[in-house]
Amino acid sequence: MTTDTATTEISAIDNDDEWVVLSWLWQSYRHDLAPVVSGLPYADGRYQTRGLPVGATDDVAAYLTWRPHPNTGERAPIAFAVVDGLTGARRSIAGMWVAPAVRQDGTGMKLATTVIARHPGPWAIAFQHDNHAAGAFWRRVADAAFGAGAWREEARAVPGHPDVPPDHWIETLDTESYVPFSDRGGRAACLAQLPPVTWT
Ligand SMILES: CC(C)(COP(=O)(O)OP(=O)(O)OC[C@H]1O[C@@H](n2cnc3c(N)ncnc32)[C@H](O)[C@@H]1OP(=O)(O)O)[C@@H](O)C(=O)NCCC(=O)NCCS
Repeated sequence: MTTDTATTEISAIDNDDEWVVLSWLWQSYRHDLAPVVSGLPYADGRYQTRGLPVGATDDVAAYLTWRPHPNTGERAPIAFAVVDGLTGARRSIAGMWVAPAVRQDGTGMKLATTVIARHPGPWAIAFQHDNHAAGAFWRRVADAAFGAGAWREEARAVPGHPDVPPDHWIETLDTESYVPFSDRGGRAACLAQLPPVTWT
């Protein structure tokens, strides 16, 4: 399925109904990440909601990409991005997801570059080593949004989890004296790292 950019719209979530929409999409996001993080649903049948905001704050904003649903024509979401760190040293991506049917068609690039442009300042974006799509995606976004040579990528061990591969951190080099971002204790916000499940 191709994405008709003429009919898509990116908007900040600004009402309770849309925060609920985000919470539904968050489950799809965590479902997609489950193979990477060895994630399982919790007792209530939901994947983890850590990092899912329930409303905007000074520190957090969320965006949805909308387009008419092919079956109903109703405005419907095809992607989301959650940004945090707006009051901190660096803005970051707390979650980003594109509906599988419209992936690799530019939807994620459009949303990520739009969101980054709306929140100027230093950025840090983390992803897990085993999320190969995310790695390819964020490197392309970093070139487009920050400029080639204006960012660096570093692999950092996941605190408390020596058994899992290091997270990767993309950070802009826009401060006079670059300091690696450690406000989160070195943990990737985009993907809260969990240890692999050990089956007995
Ligand atoms: C990662 C994700 C957001 C990418 O969204 P998308 O709409 O498919 O990305 P785009 O089509 O805008 O692609 C932008 C660039 O990234 C590259 N890219 C995207 N997915 C890729 C993949 N699976 N493999 C290789 N490159 C990929 C594209 O080729 C494109 O590069 P190009 O400009 O050279 O063509 C989407 O795959 C997704 O939602 N994945 C599941 C959730 C997730 O992992 N989120 C990120 C958490 S850190």
